[in-house]
Amino acid sequence: MTAASAAAAAYIVAALLFILSLAGLSKHETAKPGNVFGIAGMAIALIATVGLVVQDISGTSLLLLVVAVLIGAAIGLWRARVVEMTGIPELIALLHSFVGLAAVLVGWNGYLEVEAGGDPSAALTGSEAGIHSGEVAVGVFIGAVTFTGSIVAYLKLAAKIKSNPLMLPGRNWLNLGALLAFVILTVVFVIEPTLPVLAVLTVLALALGWHLVASIGGGDMPVVVSMLNSYSGWAAAAAGFLLSNDLLIITGALVGSSGAYLSYIMCKAMNRSFISVIAGGFGNEGSAASGDVDYGEHTEISAEDAAELLREADSVVITPGYGMAVAQAQGAVAELTRKLTDRGVQVRFGIHPVAGRLPGHMNVLLAEAKVPYDVVLEMDEINDDLAATSVVLVIGANDTVNPSASEDPGSPIAGMPVLRVWEAERVVVFKRSMNTGYAGVQNPLFFRDNSRMLFGDARERVEDILRSL
Ligand code: TAP
Repeated sequence: MTAASAAAAAYIVAALLFILSLAGLSKHETAKPGNVFGIAGMAIALIATVGLVVQDISGTSLLLLVVAVLIGAAIGLWRARVVEMTGIPELIALLHSFVGLAAVLVGWNGYLEVEAGGDPSAALTGSEAGIHSGEVAVGVFIGAVTFTGSIVAYLKLAAKIKSNPLMLPGRNWLNLGALLAFVILTVVFVIEPTLPVLAVLTVLALALGWHLVASIGGGDMPVVVSMLNSYSGWAAAAAGFLLSNDLLIITGALVGSSGAYLSYIMCKAMNRSFISVIAGGFGNEGSAASGDVDYGEHTEISAEDAAELLREADSVVITPGYGMAVAQAQGAVAELTRKLTDRGVQVRFGIHPVAGRLPGHMNVLLAEAKVPYDVVLEMDEINDDLAATSVVLVIGANDTVNPSASEDPGSPIAGMPVLRVWEAERVVVFKRSMNTGYAGVQNPLFFRDNSRMLFGDARERVEDILRSL
């Protein structure tokens, strides 16, 4: 068996493992084996690729390759070990930017070797040359959009820049104009592949990626993260075509299509149009934060009084949000669940599809704290039961329980389905201040007659309640 056919066989096995991995990751119960399949697939893919490349390169290049892999692996291991659970979304965004950058570099390398004549043995003629130039243009374009788009997503998720949408005048026309210019530049590049055309195309794509994500509001960031995930997959697939690497094409297509499907599911869950989000907030005209409305006074509650409310309750629903992750309150919340259940109170969780900062964020935290899966319900499963609930504990959630999403058509989060916690008899909101949530929108829930604010770190306050119970 030649090295090439051994690598092809290994690639098929790796591709199958990736498919099994995706299938496993779609359910709690099978997520762990899903991860193992993914790791095994990637290890096989790496070994096969390095084994194949080793045949054709010099000792110095091999040394460079090994050093680069070791440095990359060391940085990756270190980051994965030190990252906080709350920092994972921005880490993912940063990793997507690397995929985009890699696709840009592969595209430029392809141009320098083939079109610019850097490697005479790689010279192409006729339709093959045209196809190669088209691959370079498309690969560089998708890669550059993914690169800058992911960097803006990283900056927004890490709160290094404001999450408010950038509202340039005529921004939809800017996006459409950039797309049209890309098509024209690609045609020109295929006919006459010159460096200035590729350079203009690259700068245009970098600017478009930046603008697409900058013009999306904070509340829509979950869709952006999965959308960039999808773009990074297509960027990898484009690089696969240029490198004639079948596994990169298959893996890129898997990531691209599963990311697109995840974006579609998220858009449905948030009542957003898929096209409007991938087109950079298209149709999102003119919504502004309603921070200056006077909703009246809020009422505070002490941990002791909150414990009293829980003692008298028949049914309790807990709706966790990003603040539970920040406070690392999941262990204390799980303990509270056990205590109340032992006293005969029915305790269930209501999970909003975009609570926290990454898909499934709350489910992961609750599973880690050993909360049984059967009391953890999706928003649609719990919403109709909230009116008959004695007490709802809103633990570090804000946008996902904001009534203005359904009641104020001018709100930036208008139309997004939320947990209707205000329908319950009593609502206790755990947070540290009256500050807004991720979307920067004030929450009228805090000022309702049946709402009580329990200020402070969510973990400390839940522990206070546990002591009082
Ligand atoms: P948010 O609306 O972000 O609100 C979290 C609240 O937690 C804040 O109001 C904050 O108030 C409170 N908090 C922070 N640290 C706390 C602590 N130590 N103890 C107690 N409270 C604390 O959360 P959410 O309801 O989960 O909504 C998620 C938002 O993030 C949505 O807008 C969503 O679109 C967006 N987003 C989601 C994702 C995904 S995929 N899930 C990705 C990107 C963005 P204080 O500062 O007053 O304490």
